[in-house]
Amino acid sequence: MNSVILDELYKNLGKYVTSERMCEKLGVSRIAVWNRIKNLQKLGYKIEGKRSVGYVLKEEAKDILIPYEIRRRLNTKIFGRKIEYFRLTSSTMDEAQYLLEKDPDAHGTLIVAEEQTSGRGRQKRKWLSPRGKNIYVSLIYSPKHMDVSDSIALMFAAAIAIKEALSDFGIEDAKIKWPNDVMVGDKKIAGVLLETRSEGGVLTHAVIGFGVNVNMEEMPEELKDSATSMYLITKTQIDRATLLSNILFYLENLISLLVSEGREKIFELWKSHNNTLGRTVEIHSNGEVIKGIAKDIDKDGFLLVDVGGDVRKVVTADSVRFADEG
Ligand code: BTN
Repeated sequence: MNSVILDELYKNLGKYVTSERMCEKLGVSRIAVWNRIKNLQKLGYKIEGKRSVGYVLKEEAKDILIPYEIRRRLNTKIFGRKIEYFRLTSSTMDEAQYLLEKDPDAHGTLIVAEEQTSGRGRQKRKWLSPRGKNIYVSLIYSPKHMDVSDSIALMFAAAIAIKEALSDFGIEDAKIKWPNDVMVGDKKIAGVLLETRSEGGVLTHAVIGFGVNVNMEEMPEELKDSATSMYLITKTQIDRATLLSNILFYLENLISLLVSEGREKIFELWKSHNNTLGRTVEIHSNGEVIKGIAKDIDKDGFLLVDVGGDVRKVVTADSVRFADEG
């Protein structure tokens, strides 16, 4: 019902639509229309009503992250064409997993939340998820034929897609820290979390979750030195629906590239956007500390670190810290 009202208001942006027309379109009473309008105003729509004239939408929504606004901006074929929206949830990753249990045919569905109570990051870290400021989403991707070992390329693709979308908003200098932290300088601005299901080495479903710090005007004390937001860099309020639809567009294209040309193509792109190779890194991995020069990634996307001439392969890391000046 909201979408019928919004369609009508957007079609007549800046012009009044009579209450009669709204009632007719919706097949409900004037009071019911008024209640709907009040809800839309609460969401942030600049709608004005004049008795005996009707309702006008004064301007396009600037930062309202509801499915209607995401869909208006979406350029994808499949990703985000189905959306599950939550004002509050524990984690969009949980919602994606529930959905997969109910509907194994949820390919392309996007789960969006305005706030998460238990947002999670890699290595079971907490992901700060305050209401209405950032992007917290999970995308369900169910490949036709994909090897489990391509999972890391999916994570890389998501980090690259975020990086590309940041540059649409004037943030040109974001880089990816292995494996998939999106950084501006030495501060993290976005992260990607991948959860997969597989059968006999074949990837059946992937939940690609990502969080982007968008309109946070301040970082909490404990994150001030390690994290930033788009607002803190650009000093402008970002339209999250546009940012999200751009990320989905890039991600859909990158994953098609992965499917058509293989993971090497994604690794090449990752290399051109990374900030890790060539640096001295200190990595905590499975209770071990590996310190050396990050040389390359191997054919599986794992990090190769030269420790005094001995090349070590890092498959997962609890933390990756730069131990040089640069
Ligand atoms: C990381 O860098 O450690 C990954 C962070 C991933 C956070 C996102 S926010 C949306 C989705 N839901 C979660 O609980 N986590 C991911």
